[in-house]
Amino acid sequence: MTPGSSISFLGVDGSGKSTIARALREKLAAADRKVRILSRRDYLREQPSGHVADVNRTLYDAGLRSLYSFARTDKGQALGELLPGPPGDLRSSALEQKLNAVRISADSQAITAAALSEIAGSLVYYASVVRPELDRGTVVIEETHPLKTVTKLCLLASQIASDERHGRAAVTALRSATMILAPDPFRDVPVLVRCDPQRAYDRLIAARGGLGVLEHHGLAGRGTGREAYLDLMTRVQEAFEDVAQSWRCVVVDSDDESRYRSVKRAVETILADPRTAHLT
Ligand SMILES: Nc1ncnc2c1ncn2[C@@H]1O[C@H](COP(=O)(O)OP(=O)(O)OP(=O)(O)O)[C@@H](O)[C@H]1O
Ligand SMILES: [Mg+2]
Repeated sequence: MTPGSSISFLGVDGSGKSTIARALREKLAAADRKVRILSRRDYLREQPSGHVADVNRTLYDAGLRSLYSFARTDKGQALGELLPGPPGDLRSSALEQKLNAVRISADSQAITAAALSEIAGSLVYYASVVRPELDRGTVVIEETHPLKTVTKLCLLASQIASDERHGRAAVTALRSATMILAPDPFRDVPVLVRCDPQRAYDRLIAARGGLGVLEHHGLAGRGTGREAYLDLMTRVQEAFEDVAQSWRCVVVDSDDESRYRSVKRAVETILADPRTAHLT
C-alpha cells in the first residue's frame, strides 16, 4: 500500500485555505485517491469516546480554558464564568457566539499558555488521529495547520505583554512551535496561501458579516474592527513567510480577482510539486 500524505494549509484568516482544501479534495477524489479533510475541532465535535478521544478533548479544552478563564469583558466579568464546567462542550457554536458578542481584555501569559496547549494538543492529535489515517494510505488534508493559531496567539501575547519577559516568552513559544510542529519531510506537504490581509478581511466580512473573537483581535482589548485585524494579520503573514522558507512550503497566491481562477491555479501548483506529483 502506498503510504498516505498529509497536505496542510497556512495563511491568514480568510486567505482561502478551506476553499482551496475543498477543491483539492475534489481533484484527488476524482483521481480515485482515498482522501479526507480532517480537523481537530471537527473530530471533537463528533463527540468521540474512548481514551484517545479523552486526551484530545482534555488538551483542546485546556487551551480554550487558559485563553478565556483569565480574560475579562469590558464590564469586568471573567470569561471563565461563561464557560460550562468540564463535561460541558466548549466547542459549541452557541458559546462561540456568546464570546464573540463581548469585548474582552486578556492576559499575555494566559494567551501564551493557550498557545502551548495548542502545540501539545496538535501533537497528540497528529499522533493519535492523523498518523493512523496516513498509515491506512489516506491522503489527509488539514484546512488549517495548527501553527496558524499558535502564531496568532503568540504574536498577540507578545504585543500586549506589559512585562518584557512575558513578551519574550511568547516569542520563544512561537519559535519552539515552528520546530515542534515542523512537517515530516517524507509525508507532510505544507502549503502557504499568500493573500493580502486587506483582501482577506474584505472576503471574511462579505462571507460571514463579522469577525470572531480571535480574528478581530478583541482579546487584546485593542479594538474589534478592520484596524485590529490588519495589524495582527500583517504580522502573522510576515511570520508565515519565514516559516514558508524554513519548511519549504508550496506557496500559492490567492489574490486574483477571480475566485475560480485562483483556486484552480492553487490546486494545480500544489499537485505540480514533486512531493504530491504521485497523487494524481
Ligand atoms: N481566491 C478567492 N477569491 C475570492 N474569494 C475567495 C477566494 N478564496 C476564498 N474566497 C472567499 O473568501 C472567504 C474565506 O475563504 P476561506 O473560508 O476559504 O478562508 P480560510 O483561509 O479558510 O479562512 P479561516 O482562516 O477563517 O478558516 C470565503 O467566502 C470564500 O468563498
Ligand atoms: Mg478555513
